[in-house]
Amino acid sequence: MKLQQMSAERIARDEKLKGVILAGGLGTRLHPLTKVTSKHLLPVGNEPMIFHCVKQLTSAGITDILIVTNPQYVGDFVKVLGGGAEFGCEFTYRVQDEAKGIAHALALAEGFAAGGKSVVLLGDNIFESPIQPAITDFQAQREGARVMLKQVPDPQRYGVATLESHHIVAIEEKPQHPKSDYAVVGVYFYDAAVFDIIRMIEPSARGEYEITAVNNVYIRRGVLEYSIVQGKWVDAGTFDALTEAHHILLG
Ligand code: DAU
Repeated sequence: MKLQQMSAERIARDEKLKGVILAGGLGTRLHPLTKVTSKHLLPVGNEPMIFHCVKQLTSAGITDILIVTNPQYVGDFVKVLGGGAEFGCEFTYRVQDEAKGIAHALALAEGFAAGGKSVVLLGDNIFESPIQPAITDFQAQREGARVMLKQVPDPQRYGVATLESHHIVAIEEKPQHPKSDYAVVGVYFYDAAVFDIIRMIEPSARGEYEITAVNNVYIRRGVLEYSIVQGKWVDAGTFDALTEAHHILLG
């Protein structure tokens, strides 16, 4: 009886979604602001940028959160975020030694995910509205992955989804001639298969393990779903976008 109770508790805990915030990379587009610390710790609104991702997760009930960062700035993240008590969550930290791409950073989450499902946020993505409805949709999904799409005026800056009969049939990374204006934003929902998929992909022409390559494998398997972003969204990786992010968060 005791043993049965223990395993039921374990299943409940293991089925809880985990959160992963990817905050490595070099942030070179924001030099000289990023010469002394990470882009994700720059002020947006009244707080360091990364607080936004943390609060998106905790407000959806996700309290087990992995932060992936680069070796130079891991100490800054620990100083700013601590163990998580201030946010009602628990942080785990991992270091990505070289900025070899988003999928490469995500590979570091395999042990943390422990065979369960994860919500992955790019630390420079800012949303006007909660992403919680997409999290609920993903929890109801039996297998596979989910991305979020937003219609944008400049799709060539992003991963771009081609839609046919309300299904994603392909995603192209920063295409010169985009086939749609649906950007794939930096929130991804994955089952545990993602880590085997990352092991299968090859680096792109720019030498990075692309998250778009991972998502295309899910498309080929017929298990990539999507949600539409409600409200404004910005990838705060450039000076103009950083200004826009301030406006979004200060309302
Ligand atoms: O913002 C959405 C876009 O993000 C997507 O539409 C693209 O498909 C996706 O490739 C990505 O494009 P970016 O050019 O904006 O990615 P960036 O190199 O700026 O990296 C985004 C975040 O990922 C960054 O804030 C930190 C994290 N990252 C990135 C790299 C390259 C890492 O943690 N490690 C890395 O090696």
